[in-house]
Amino acid sequence: MMFFQILLEVIWILAVFGGQHWTYEGPHGQHHWSASYPECGSNAQSPINIQTDSVIFDPELPPLQPHGYEQPGTKPLELHNNGHTVQLSLPPTMYLEGLPQKYVAAQLHLHWGQKRSPRGSEHQINSQATAAELHIVHYDSDSYNSLSEAAQRPQGLAVLSILIEVGETKNPAYEHILSHLHEIRYKDQYTSVPPFNVRELLPPVLAHYFRYNGSLTTPPCYQSVLWTVFSRRAQISMDQLEKLQETLFSTEKEPSTLLVQNYRAPQPLNQRMVFASFIQAESLYTTGEMLSLGVGILAGCLCLLLAAYFIARKIRKKMSGNRKSVVFTSAQVTEA
Ligand SMILES: *[C@@H]1O[C@H](CO)[C@@H](O)[C@H](O)[C@H]1NC(C)=O
Repeated sequence: MMFFQILLEVIWILAVFGGQHWTYEGPHGQHHWSASYPECGSNAQSPINIQTDSVIFDPELPPLQPHGYEQPGTKPLELHNNGHTVQLSLPPTMYLEGLPQKYVAAQLHLHWGQKRSPRGSEHQINSQATAAELHIVHYDSDSYNSLSEAAQRPQGLAVLSILIEVGETKNPAYEHILSHLHEIRYKDQYTSVPPFNVRELLPPVLAHYFRYNGSLTTPPCYQSVLWTVFSRRAQISMDQLEKLQETLFSTEKEPSTLLVQNYRAPQPLNQRMVFASFIQAESLYTTGEMLSLGVGILAGCLCLLLAAYFIARKIRKKMSGNRKSVVFTSAQVTEA
């Protein structure tokens, strides 16, 4: 009997600690999250694939205004390898306007793939993933006392999503994070980062974004996030991406496992709507493409006009020829 009780206790402890352990692949991977974290199997999950031909243009969505991003305090910021991602703590002097409530910043973190793989982002636009993705996490501080409290309430959180692609040049803003990764290679290591201009991690244009209701993209997957996914991408160099893919471990010590492919697959949209702050055609064609399109249409019209002119001329010629023969025949007839 005693033995049985101890056995139950052990099973209970294993279940609790087993529930806290999660990964992206394998027996504790994303397809099994909902066994330990039921909300991960719910119907308004993130990330999603944003299909731009089925988003709804909402002219009421204002440009997003980040405040205090240029100078996030004077104290060093804490950079942490938590085994799932690299996370930077942010002060509440950073906040967002342009959302239904005021949301203050709490932390930012990244998602990425593995070396030589083009995919690493969580959100996709028209089924296209990018190399990495930045999430800046904010919470509704007027309604809730803490991030953890807000994280369990509808629209308690607002997360900015910045899709990151590889460009030609090194991005100095991202270097403020990436240059410290070697100091926190193992899980649960911390380091300090001098405050830097966080606004520069974002794309230059903040007026064009997608908005939807979703969830945390990691367990416990609470459906508390008002998402803003920017249409424009940020760029980092290939060297910078590789540093992100090759420096961190998801484990505390040897044997070490590289911290890679920490992105969740797109989740079903179900009944949800995705809104856009801008009209799609604007982003579909660049100015150059618009210009060549215009020139093409003009040239096409000119060709049509010319063709119509020649056809008309030919018909007129033929008609006047016919008339002549008719006149001639009728003349013959009258003469006869
Ligand atoms: C999110 O959900 C709330 C509550 O149901 C709703 O009022 C709001 O319009 C939704 N926002 C979006 C972007 O779907």
